[in-house]
Amino acid sequence: MKRIVEQSTIGLILSRRSIRRFRKTEMGEDVLSVIVEAGQSAPAYLQAYSIIWIRDPKMVDAVSELCESEIIKNASAVLLVCLDFNRLSALLQTITTEHFLKLDSYPAEVLLSVFEAGLVVENMIMASEAYGYGSLILDCGLYECERLVDLLKLPQSVVPLVLLLIGEKDESPPPRPRWGLKNILHVDGYKQTTSVDVSEYLAKAEKTLSSEGYLMKYANFSGTYAEYLAERLKGTKDVKQSYEQLSAFLRKRGLKF
Ligand SMILES: Cc1cc2nc3c(=O)[nH]c(=O)nc-3n(C[C@H](O)[C@H](O)[C@H](O)COP(=O)(O)O)c2cc1C
Repeated sequence: MKRIVEQSTIGLILSRRSIRRFRKTEMGEDVLSVIVEAGQSAPAYLQAYSIIWIRDPKMVDAVSELCESEIIKNASAVLLVCLDFNRLSALLQTITTEHFLKLDSYPAEVLLSVFEAGLVVENMIMASEAYGYGSLILDCGLYECERLVDLLKLPQSVVPLVLLLIGEKDESPPPRPRWGLKNILHVDGYKQTTSVDVSEYLAKAEKTLSSEGYLMKYANFSGTYAEYLAERLKGTKDVKQSYEQLSAFLRKRGLKF
């Protein structure tokens, strides 16, 4: 088992970075179990989540192909974090006939369960850091949920959210940009973001990311950060269509939000 790095909790949190270059090493079940247990130790709501450890190398290759991500192949652990109203339903059915899962919609439970799964993921990330491992969240869990459901033969009401990669760090990136504290921490009310705030944020982000060569290194993009964001967050007709499909699939799977 790897030695737990001796650092303060705050130090670990502040120095964590997303890692996109891993050295391929094996992770033992003992370490993985502690990391997942750390995830479970996050504040709990409905525990409507499941974590699928994608361990079989053929399965890892299939997920890597499906997500068009080579990084996946070098991770020491590939975890698919899912919303799981399947297990919750088994529990509720044994205690009442009139549970909320029978309603036409339950947006609060869906949103709070996504929030809860996020806490679990962050705890697993920080536990990985404590072991000296790096990690990366991949959103392809959700974007490719339909194909992942098929690949892993997931039952109804189990919905992939994110992939969490954990592995031996093969890079040590600098801090990435965040909005200033003054923008995100509001006191006794809400302070509207101004155009100056936006310009300041974009300028800071551009400076930080260009000094790392971030966009070129990871996205092979030669423009500015603002141009990159505009490109990535476009709401084109194609995006609209694929989101309609995604929404329909999520509802069919049992996410009644
Ligand atoms: C919900 C979520 C989804 C993410 N999806 C991806 C992804 O698909 N690919 C990726 O490279 N990074 C992904 N990330 C990581 C972010 O890009 C990363 O956290 C951000 O650039 C800030 O960098 P840092 O984590 O090093 O501070 C995701 C992060 C979150 C919270």
